[in-house]
Amino acid sequence: MQLLVDLGARSYPIHIASGALARAGSLIAPCLAAPQALIIADATVAALHGATLRQSLAAAGIHAELVAFPPGERSKTLDTAAQLWDACARHRLGRDGAILALGGGVAGDLAGFVAACWMRGVRFVQAPTTLLAMVDSAVGGKTGIDIPAGKNLIGAFCQPVAVICDPAVLTTLDERNYRAGLAEVIKYGVIRDAALLAWLEGQAEAVSARDPEAIAHIVHESCRIKAWYVACDEREEGLRAELNLGHTFGHALEAESGYQGLLHGEAVAIGMRLACVLARSLGVLADPDLPARLDALLTRFGLPLRYPATDPALIERLVARTALDKKARGGRVRFVLPVRAGQVTLLPVADQAAIAAAFREGCQ
Ligand SMILES: NC(=O)c1ccc[n+]([C@@H]2O[C@H](COP(=O)([O-])OP(=O)(O)OC[C@H]3O[C@@H](n4cnc5c(N)ncnc54)[C@H](O)[C@@H]3O)[C@@H](O)[C@H]2O)c1
Repeated sequence: MQLLVDLGARSYPIHIASGALARAGSLIAPCLAAPQALIIADATVAALHGATLRQSLAAAGIHAELVAFPPGERSKTLDTAAQLWDACARHRLGRDGAILALGGGVAGDLAGFVAACWMRGVRFVQAPTTLLAMVDSAVGGKTGIDIPAGKNLIGAFCQPVAVICDPAVLTTLDERNYRAGLAEVIKYGVIRDAALLAWLEGQAEAVSARDPEAIAHIVHESCRIKAWYVACDEREEGLRAELNLGHTFGHALEAESGYQGLLHGEAVAIGMRLACVLARSLGVLADPDLPARLDALLTRFGLPLRYPATDPALIERLVARTALDKKARGGRVRFVLPVRAGQVTLLPVADQAAIAAAFREGCQ
């Protein structure tokens, strides 16, 4: 299966196929300017899947070195980026060389940022290995790093020249990270595609059991929807912000957990519920059945419905954190709110009491 992210002269393919990693060399060779690449992966993914990618590049005549960093969000820093730029220099990666991200969203965001800055930008390829990265972060060109003031505050748009999604690599992914990725798939159903939401409800067992056809379907549908948003609004000046359903609440919860207690997808799961609560209290929710459907689906996929903490000052801190959201304009936080299955609206919300009430519903 192949999709295209339509960005005119910068359009790029998304290859989705079991075994695609072993064919990555021949798939990406036409997108490169020279047969030289640096693979950036975290140490876990490098050990599991690095050799497959290297062999496929070698078979296509592409000379590749691999550089690994310690796994986890804690590596998404300027320090790691600086070490990776040193690696680019050490391996003499030229202006016509390419950087390949092999891994989850951390590797993709970090390697993309390194690629955007090395020699003012070199070609970049995404080979996602988590469900979250396949359905979300590998497509769309957002890259970046974290600083103590916040997550993803430093970054660059850097569209890849190709995305290689091999659902077979998900067989080594742990259950919790797999389920966290499903939250983003549910998100696409809620924001844009009622049929996808209904399909997930009908096929929940196959999805949970990681049935290969079910995985290929959710990766394809998610990438199709994401590619559509990116083609409509590459720089998130309007419509693309709809992809942030659940993220304003979710980012506040993630920050509160010190980026350790909750995975990104888990925070998005809780955040989508809270968006329903806020939508209902503001009179925006047109379909009263949607919150119960969402809860049922999140529960079937083993995702959390609430943040497990009730410290009295917590709600105040969470509301304050939403004000730092990158979507805030003129002091008002813009929330993506569900209207009905497949439709959301972007609304500036000044009613702090309503935001606090939503957070109260989502903490236990
Ligand atoms: N750029 C975007 O548009 C965008 C969108 C969503 C999220 N993100 C970012 O993505 C990051 C989260 O990504 P993530 O959830 O993929 O986390 P991650 O990259 O840290 O991967 C999660 C864990 O899974 C392991 N892993 C990855 N693939 C594996 C495999 N096939 N087998 C076994 N283990 C494997 C990794 O080593 C890691 O320990 C966050 O930093 C978030 O900000 C970016």
